[in-house]
Amino acid sequence: MRNKIVAGNWKMNTLVNEGVELAKSLNDYFVSNKPPAGIKLVIGVPFTHIDACVREIDYTVISVAAQNCSQFDRGAYTGEVSPEMIKSLGAQYVIIGHSERRQLFGETDEVISQKVALAHKNALFPILCCGETLKERQSGDHFEIVRQQLTDSLKLTDQFNIIRTVIAYEPVWAIGTGKTASPEQAQEMHMFIRKVLSELYSQPIADKISILYGGSVKPENASEIFAQDDIDGGLIGGASLKSEDFINIYKAI
Ligand code: PGA
Repeated sequence: MRNKIVAGNWKMNTLVNEGVELAKSLNDYFVSNKPPAGIKLVIGVPFTHIDACVREIDYTVISVAAQNCSQFDRGAYTGEVSPEMIKSLGAQYVIIGHSERRQLFGETDEVISQKVALAHKNALFPILCCGETLKERQSGDHFEIVRQQLTDSLKLTDQFNIIRTVIAYEPVWAIGTGKTASPEQAQEMHMFIRKVLSELYSQPIADKISILYGGSVKPENASEIFAQDDIDGGLIGGASLKSEDFINIYKAI
């Protein structure tokens, strides 16, 4: 059985005190309503919040993720944060290759593949994002785009590490737009992603990997998205900033 994962991506929102309040209220709820085995909760917080949030929460119930990491180990890289630094604060996951990083900060699959490898080297679980733009979907290229992103971003990841990787499919046109992929559109792509993983690795390995859907997931649409066979949870942006919404999305799983 694959893990089901509900992961929040706070993006560049909340000041530290607000983030800690949010983490605390989630922790209070989940400590008294322990998720069953096989369901994981993750909050993706700004770098500046990792330490304070890790201290506030019970790590056996909620894990903390960074939203990015450097592709370099250490050294003269002004402004960068290494996977080792993230790990040293007690975070367990790192979101890598989010479409905002690809589009606004020029991240390529080459760089993303290095970040994924370095995250693994430092015992962090990467949440590797992929997904097509609206133009790519309209031109019918979405499957090939996602295949290429996965193949190139995973080229440094071997059989041992791939099972320590989470994939998030996030169609760019559905992020923060209020437009969700239909459950059928999402399932079709998730099935395709699992097929690509089976070709890159093997079917038994592909069957073990959690593939999350992201893009305007809300309490109102989460159940029908999560009901799909190949959808193992969600990467939640806007709705992860309100504890009630995040909890209701968790309940949907
Ligand atoms: P959204 O963001 O839920 O606000 O659409 C998802 C994401 O970017 O991870």
